[in-house]
Order: sequence, then C-alpha cells, then structure tokens
Amino acid sequence: MLALHFGTVLLFAATGLLIVASISAPTVAKIDLLHVPLSNGSAVNFGSLGFCVLKSADGTSCTHTGVAYRIANEISSLGIEPFSGAEASTLHGLTGGLILHQIAAGIAGIAFLLAVCSHRIGFLFASAVALLAFLFSLAILVIDFVTFGSVRHHIRDNGGRAEYGNAIWMVLAATIILLFASVATCFACITGRRRTRTRKTAATY
Ligand SMILES: *[C@@H]1O[C@H](CO)[C@@H](O)[C@H](O)[C@H]1NC(C)=O
Repeated sequence: MLALHFGTVLLFAATGLLIVASISAPTVAKIDLLHVPLSNGSAVNFGSLGFCVLKSADGTSCTHTGVAYRIANEISSLGIEPFSGAEASTLHGLTGGLILHQIAAGIAGIAFLLAVCSHRIGFLFASAVALLAFLFSLAILVIDFVTFGSVRHHIRDNGGRAEYGNAIWMVLAATIILLFASVATCFACITGRRRTRTRKTAATY
C-alpha cells in the first residue's frame, strides 16, 4: 500500500513547492523569481504577480497583487538603461503568463488529491492529471527563464547585479518531481491491478 503511494508523496512535494513559488513577491517579499540588489543597499524582488522593494532602513514596499506588471518601467525607474519599447511590451506580455504558477499549483494539487483517493485504475487518472501538471510546470519554467533571464542579462550588461530568486529553483524542482510522480503513479496503477488479479487467482484454489 505504501509503495503504491510513492507517486502520491511526490505529488504532495511538487504541490508544496508550486504553492510556495505562487506566493512569491508581492505576497511574500522574500520569495522571488529575480533578485536585484541595488547600489544604495536596497534590493528589488520580482515575483509572479508583482514585486517588492526591500529597504534595510525603512522596511519593504510592495506593489498590488495582479496579473501582468510592468518590469521595464521599474527597471528604468531604478536608473538602469531602459528597455526598448518592443522589449518592454514583450516583457509585459510575458508577465501575464506568470499566473501559470498558480494554475500549475492547482493542477498538481488536484492530481495529489486524486492519487490519495486512488487504488488500482484510479491511479491512471491521477497519473494523467499529474502529466498535465508537469506540462504546465514545464511551460511556466520556460516563461520564468525567458522573462527573468532576459531581465537579468539586461541588468548585468548595464553594470548592475541580478540573481535568479529562490522560487525559480522551486519551479525547476517541482517540474522534475512531477515527471517522476506521473510515471510512479502510472506504475502504481499497473502493479495495483496485478496484485488484485494475483489475489483473485489465489482465491480460486
Ligand atoms: C535605493 O534606490 C531605489 C531606486 O531608486 C529606491 O527605491 C530606494 O528607496 C533606495 N533606497 C534607499 C535606502 O534610499
């Protein structure tokens, strides 16, 4: 029974990681996708639905939580060389896709609940939903690295500092775990069925 739920445990871990990544800045300032330390000692943490400016002296100020935000405006207001108009609107479009963090977390959570309630054939359904969660997680991973990779590159090219934040690594881990979870849950379906069949065969003797 416990071995059958190995995939379920993996789904629990992946859901947890995606939930934590979903409550990144501006919800929790310290959880971020891109960390930009400034020369005056402050830092900007970019998250999935906004960003926060962390000042050592007088606390933290964050934007409202909302789908899509203007990274390029913030970059130029930090005194960094501005993005071109086309780059700025591409970045703005990409930030709209960051809502996939919350959606991927939701789908992974559903796959987990299905796997918890499953025995035998139910695992097949849980495995399919886990595979869907994997695809969403992979999509968000690509969007994260394209969006924040280009911002990071731009800041570094202009003499600033920028590092990928903790949440981006959580999404990477969750994506890998979800792939294994989907396979493990599917495997649970096969072994679960074989076990029942063996039991039935034994009972006839
Ligand atoms: C540092 O600079 C940023 C951007 O100009 C500003 O938002 C922040 O308040 C500054 N921090 C301090 C401590 O003055």
